[in-house]
Amino acid sequence: MIELAPSILAADFARLAEQVRDAAEGGATVVHVDIMDGHFVPNLTVGPPLVRSLRKATNLPLDCHLMIENPDQFIPELAEAGADWISVHQEACRHLNRTLHLIKSGGCLAGVVINPATPVATLTEVLDIVDYVLVMSVNPGFGAQEFIPGAVHKIRSLADLRSQRRLHYRLEVDGGISLDTVTEVVRAGAEILVAGNAVFGHGDPKSNAQKLLKAASEATLQRV
Ligand code: DX5
Ligand code: ZN
Repeated sequence: MIELAPSILAADFARLAEQVRDAAEGGATVVHVDIMDGHFVPNLTVGPPLVRSLRKATNLPLDCHLMIENPDQFIPELAEAGADWISVHQEACRHLNRTLHLIKSGGCLAGVVINPATPVATLTEVLDIVDYVLVMSVNPGFGAQEFIPGAVHKIRSLADLRSQRRLHYRLEVDGGISLDTVTEVVRAGAEILVAGNAVFGHGDPKSNAQKLLKAASEATLQRV
């Protein structure tokens, strides 16, 4: 099943509840929350207090994408604040297996993320314990960047590995997803589509979400 996860990074933070509601009316089923610390990535965003407020504003699952050093320090607090899914970067985790288990012990789905320059092969030993894999199609830190096409073959190889190894993780993609790029990532196997600028950057979030989902569902028919 294809799901759209609007990234609130591109939303108007002063009208967040309303913007999330609009995107949900357009068919969005997950809320993507980008958490940045100014160290792992060159930008600062939000933390547990915002997750706590969002938890009261929507029933949709909150997908927290941690772009922070030492994520273990914040995982329990985020889980307690209402995160449903938590993903951590392979590049940020010295003890990735332990961190993924920490996420699960908080009752959340556990995801692992790879940057554009990180090969799929670095995930071999954790694919059997993650609930989802997030392939970055931009260098993390900012919204509205250009899609990096190398993400497509990584999604395809993660889909192939999943069937070869009979695993069940889901495939998420994040960065530069728009009407121009959604078809190729879905054809490659992406199932959870993060989109910030394409949902909140211009026009109406509801119809933007509808258009992206329509293009994505058409693309599923072209999967090879
Ligand atoms: C980038 C974030 C993304 C970002 C995507 O570091 O992880 O979630 O908000 O924004 P767009 O869809 O505008 O590329
Ligand atoms: Zn993200």
